[in-house]
Amino acid sequence: HVRRKLVAGNWKMNGSLHQLTELGAIAAAARAASGVDVAICPPFTLIASAVARGGGIPIGGQDCHHQSSGAFTGNVSATMLKEAGAKLVIVGHSERRAEQQESDAIVRAKAQAALAAGLQTIVCIGESEEERMGGHAITRCSAQLAGSIPELSGDAELVVAYEPIWAIGTGRTATCDDVREIHGLVRKVLVDRFGDAGGRIRILYGGSVRGDNAAELFAVDNVDGALVGGASLNAEQFVPIIEAAA
Ligand code: G3H
Repeated sequence: HVRRKLVAGNWKMNGSLHQLTELGAIAAAARAASGVDVAICPPFTLIASAVARGGGIPIGGQDCHHQSSGAFTGNVSATMLKEAGAKLVIVGHSERRAEQQESDAIVRAKAQAALAAGLQTIVCIGESEEERMGGHAITRCSAQLAGSIPELSGDAELVVAYEPIWAIGTGRTATCDDVREIHGLVRKVLVDRFGDAGGRIRILYGGSVRGDNAAELFAVDNVDGALVGGASLNAEQFVPIIEAAA
């Protein structure tokens, strides 16, 4: 399968209206890298403005609720994201799994709702440092895959992101061998479950991806792009990652 690379930025709880000016240069780089898909996920409050001012880059959310509406104070549904102009959403990020105690079952329900709303859906998995040190990285990721990956439905695209928790925001990237091993596992699970369609699902790596390490990560088997946190906040750091994927 030939899979286009996807470079998605996750702004987390960062950014401002002013920071949307970065999207101009990011959009220009995305147009120049014609074989690469680029997306940005800013906080909810910036989505509509980012859609309006983003130069055509797909804009997404960082979470959604699994119900489409109701008495869920503080939450936003996938259909609401869609109405705001979002094209994608991240679900099951390790920060939400940790801070909001999101279980695999909840993540799966969110992913199901997001796909049903027609959003490209990035489901995150990844082991903690303790799990890796204890030799349980594969077991942990397998369990998260089994519990979090939804059924494929409709036309919206499912994407999986492998983000080892100890590599997020730490400047420590997983080795290419570790990334190859886990991405190979993810691919096998997807193909076993979905057959040919599993071979088309893109698998992103996330965790301290920067301009100076992106190329070697993108060269690893089954690395179909990156989910970028800190380095997606400004064009100067994000554009080299887009270029490395081209
Ligand atoms: O969603 C993005 C990841 O958590 C990676 O964050 O690039 O700042 O390490 P980072």
